[in-house]
Amino acid sequence: MRELKSQLGDLDNRPDVQELSKMIKMYQLYQAGQKEISTKLENLDSEFQVNYDYNPIHHMESRMKKIQSLFEKAQRKGYDLTAESIQKNIYDIAGIRVITNYIDDIYKIEKLLTSQTDVTLLRRKDYLKHPKESGYRSLHIVVKVPVFQSKGPIDVPVEIQIRTVGMDMWASLEHKLRYKTDTDSNLVDKYGDRLKGYADELEDIERGMQDIHRDLI
Ligand code: GTP
Ligand code: MG
Repeated sequence: MRELKSQLGDLDNRPDVQELSKMIKMYQLYQAGQKEISTKLENLDSEFQVNYDYNPIHHMESRMKKIQSLFEKAQRKGYDLTAESIQKNIYDIAGIRVITNYIDDIYKIEKLLTSQTDVTLLRRKDYLKHPKESGYRSLHIVVKVPVFQSKGPIDVPVEIQIRTVGMDMWASLEHKLRYKTDTDSNLVDKYGDRLKGYADELEDIERGMQDIHRDLI
């Protein structure tokens, strides 16, 4: 609790102690949901290894949204700073990033995960079909999964960003550019267009390599 309070920083509207204790319970629940989904993804990947001698997943990263970022987001979007309102409105408290080798793997993983009987797709944004203005590409889905607690199952949303190694490398660099831009706005003018061009080139290369790979398996 003390740690949580210190993470809160200088928020104007700090939630009271009772709300904070609800949020700690909520966090535990979301973390459990994140583990459920990570395990499912790991199992899918190892099944592929055994059956097809091939791994669609290059690696995965999991993160829980920092409590301070969570409150900042709630405040920015005008939501109440209560556990109930946060649960209802914010879906990326538990997040998993899945980095794949090829473009086909992105949709393969989505299909295999969301067709599991206890996984339900809640939201989907396909930034591969519709890249962002910046050039950003990735598939974002939010799924819900039941977490079995002592009183029974509770559905928890987990946000999953699925992208290739190339798209991930691009997104890290572009993120750095945007972050740096807070202090030096010339940098976006200098590099923004070039990065967008690289995103398109990367897509061409990844599609080409995908074709070769398809012929090899
Ligand atoms: P939020 O409420 O802010 O999450 O808005 P949203 O749900 O509409 O966001 P979106 O689905 O676009 O995904 C947000 C996350 O995707 C960010 O936290 C980044 O990790 C990633 N992202 C989205 N757009 C970009 C981009 O242009 N560049 C990079 N590097 N990452 C992006
Ligand atoms: Mg989001």
